[in-house]
Amino acid sequence: MERILIVDDEAFIRENLERVLQSDGYRTISAENGNEALTAISEQEVDLVLLDLNLGAESGLEVLSSLREIEPNLLVIIITGYGTVESAVEALKLGAYDYIKKPFKADAIHLIVRLALETQSLKREMRQLRRDGATHHFTEEMIGSSPQILQVFDQIREVSKHGTSTVLITGESGTGKELAARAIHKYSERSNQPFIEINCGSLPLNLLESELFGYEKGAFTDAKIRKKGLIEEADGGTLFLDEIGEMDISLQVKLLRVLEERNIRRIGGSRNIEIDTRVIAATNRDLKLAVEDKEFREDLYYRLNVVPIFLPPLRERKEDITQLLNFFIKRFSKQFNKQVKDVSRQALDMILNYRWPGNARELRNVVERICIMSSSVHITPDTLPKEITGEPVNTSVKECFSLNETGLNLEEEIASIEKEYIRKALQMTGANVAKTSRLLQIPRGTLRYKIEKYELTDTD
Ligand SMILES: Nc1ncnc2c1ncn2[C@@H]1O[C@H](COP(=O)(O)OP(=O)(O)OP(=O)(O)O)[C@@H](O)[C@H]1O
Ligand SMILES: [Mg+2]
Repeated sequence: MERILIVDDEAFIRENLERVLQSDGYRTISAENGNEALTAISEQEVDLVLLDLNLGAESGLEVLSSLREIEPNLLVIIITGYGTVESAVEALKLGAYDYIKKPFKADAIHLIVRLALETQSLKREMRQLRRDGATHHFTEEMIGSSPQILQVFDQIREVSKHGTSTVLITGESGTGKELAARAIHKYSERSNQPFIEINCGSLPLNLLESELFGYEKGAFTDAKIRKKGLIEEADGGTLFLDEIGEMDISLQVKLLRVLEERNIRRIGGSRNIEIDTRVIAATNRDLKLAVEDKEFREDLYYRLNVVPIFLPPLRERKEDITQLLNFFIKRFSKQFNKQVKDVSRQALDMILNYRWPGNARELRNVVERICIMSSSVHITPDTLPKEITGEPVNTSVKECFSLNETGLNLEEEIASIEKEYIRKALQMTGANVAKTSRLLQIPRGTLRYKIEKYELTDTD
């Protein structure tokens, strides 16, 4: 039930109002002066304030200002005596909802209070809706509202309009490359044609080749019948070449040919078959580096990189962490019939500061696990996996080694890195000193000394 604060210096009026409001089922709190009123609203949730403008020596208007300073959305109805209507108008300017004149009838109080509370709850709902609306559901599956991901959504929308441009999607593992590829297909005119996906890293060279290009009967011993390849299957639609960075260099030449000539020849075939397929390639490798290392053909790289789309790591998109978190909580608590609803402030801080090396996929898995295991409504630090509650980790190696004019204490820096490694190793080995010393390739004695020096713990 709603709680109403009555502020009036006259006991008779306070009691009168209490009675009227309680008979409507509201809970009431009374205050005699501004101070008591301020204390009341700082100590508890109040839905509505009935404030007498004439509080003896005190100015009701000043009390109003201070109340709204503490609680800017506070709903206030002014009670005004004869001759103070001007002040009532002043009060409206200061944000009061309405005013009522003394003497008042119980009916008038019932009505004005009910209307005010209804308006308030509508406003609250609208605010909530607006907040939810800020979650961008790009597709049913892909969400986000960070400037970075909104830019990705724009790029996807834009490129989907251009039916054949080749797209290269890069980004760390789990950042949503596949979702992005599917979204491009979904928004394009090709959406009712096939979306064919192949993982270039999962098949040995010869299988991948025959999967992609197909073969004619008798092309090799096992080719008992003719088989269409996936590039052909994707005709009219989209071919998604996942983990393109793993493709064997000899196959890269053949793929390059397909992209340039827009036709294919089945293995053992003599005829070129025209194809109209959009190719989307994805990789979590740095292809530029792979080109430098001669593991990836430079010409293919440029042929693929017509429209580059980069999915930034999740740790650089804090807004998305919060949104994905809520999105997965809703999804998995529904799926597993659990009541998990929110995240404590402390747990949220840890989640926001965590590095998320596995990006959105890792976040999804963590929430899924919590929803399966948990019987509580809140996600608190003790429900989080250790790697998240541990000390915050630097966001990148580069940041770890950053140096500026202020300089740094080299010995301290190195010591802190050393401490971090030992802490991790102890964690991995269940704090077993023998195993840890092998893992870090240092003598046991040295390890013990360092454990003591850095005030780490072990079980030995
Ligand atoms: N923007 C997003 N909105 C909702 N879920 C997302 C988003 N990005 C990623 N995910 C989640 O993360 C999972 C992994 O995404 P996806 O398979 O697209 O990543 P990837 O970049 O292809 O990873 P990998 O490089 O490991 O193949 C998805 O199944 C989805 O649950
Ligand atoms: Mg993928």
